[in-house]
Amino acid sequence: MTAPVLPASPDAIARAIALLKRGGLVAMPTETVYGLACDAGDPAAVARLYAAKGRPAFNPLIAHVDGFGMAAREGVFSETARRLAETFWPGPLTLVVPLARTHITCELARAGLDTVAIRASAHPVARALIAGVGRPLVAPSANRSGHVSPTEAAHVAGDLGEAIDLILDTGACEHGLESTVIACLDGPPALLRPGALPAGRIEAVLGAPLLRPADEPGAPVAPGQLLRHYAPNARLRLNVRHPEPGEAWLAFGLTPVSGARTAATLNLSPRGDLAEAAANLFAMLRTLDRSYDRIAVSPIPDTGLGEAINDRLRRAVTR
Ligand code: TXA
Ligand code: MG
Repeated sequence: MTAPVLPASPDAIARAIALLKRGGLVAMPTETVYGLACDAGDPAAVARLYAAKGRPAFNPLIAHVDGFGMAAREGVFSETARRLAETFWPGPLTLVVPLARTHITCELARAGLDTVAIRASAHPVARALIAGVGRPLVAPSANRSGHVSPTEAAHVAGDLGEAIDLILDTGACEHGLESTVIACLDGPPALLRPGALPAGRIEAVLGAPLLRPADEPGAPVAPGQLLRHYAPNARLRLNVRHPEPGEAWLAFGLTPVSGARTAATLNLSPRGDLAEAAANLFAMLRTLDRSYDRIAVSPIPDTGLGEAINDRLRRAVTR
């Protein structure tokens, strides 16, 4: 049976809450991407969630909370972690902190780690579900493992429709790019995954640069930063100013008129706006991937949100 796709009316939200309380799997919109939610404290539901995604079980999940009170029952917040939460929650920031004794998030959801990733989404539907269940919900992006993250309900239905219970639809996601993941453990805060909150805004609050473990050769790789992750089937070429004939072109900004005949061109943001490009990235990749086997991508500046966009593009290239 295929999961129903319902506009997020009060009735549909009540139905989702009832399903979640019974261990069901519900695709919920957030301001970043659609997440596949279940009760964070129900190991049987979490096991079904991993199976639905086809995700390796060593990849830990984010516990979504409705505010700092619920967060502080799951994790231990240092002064720095608390400052980041106060500044950027609710919003597209995930904090990895040591596990609190009072936690509900089960070991399977944490992939056995004694740390926990926590995020308070600003999306009213996500907040209503968490408040309605009264417990944190784990929610990885609602795509099959290795596919690009879903930014529309139809993407979720295509990837997971057969494997889950309900999809709540509120249209396209505001950011279209996953949350920024920051580790606040011993030592200075570290950027584990660039995302919808530009690292520079976090550094401005901290008054210091974030550690970037990914840049240090030999540094342990954060779980879940599996290199090939955001993957279309097509072969991607990055930083292309002049696509070859037959390539589909994912352009950015004002593109020079190319002599070559591209198979198709989609522009992430004709006016060169990185937020607009981030919001379009996954949906445009999916669209081109459906019809073409070679995609050339324009250079994207590595500033602000460009850091996260380039991170996703590099992962999509690696095979
Ligand atoms: O925007 C988002 O963050 C979306 C929406 C649905 O909230 N969720 C999302 O979840 O992207 P997921 O599971 O696709 O990515 C979670 C990331 C992974 O890279 C995972 O390895 C990392 O967070 N993570 C989770 N727990 C961790 C931990 N204890 N230590 C280090 N990294 C952790
Ligand atoms: Mg994901």
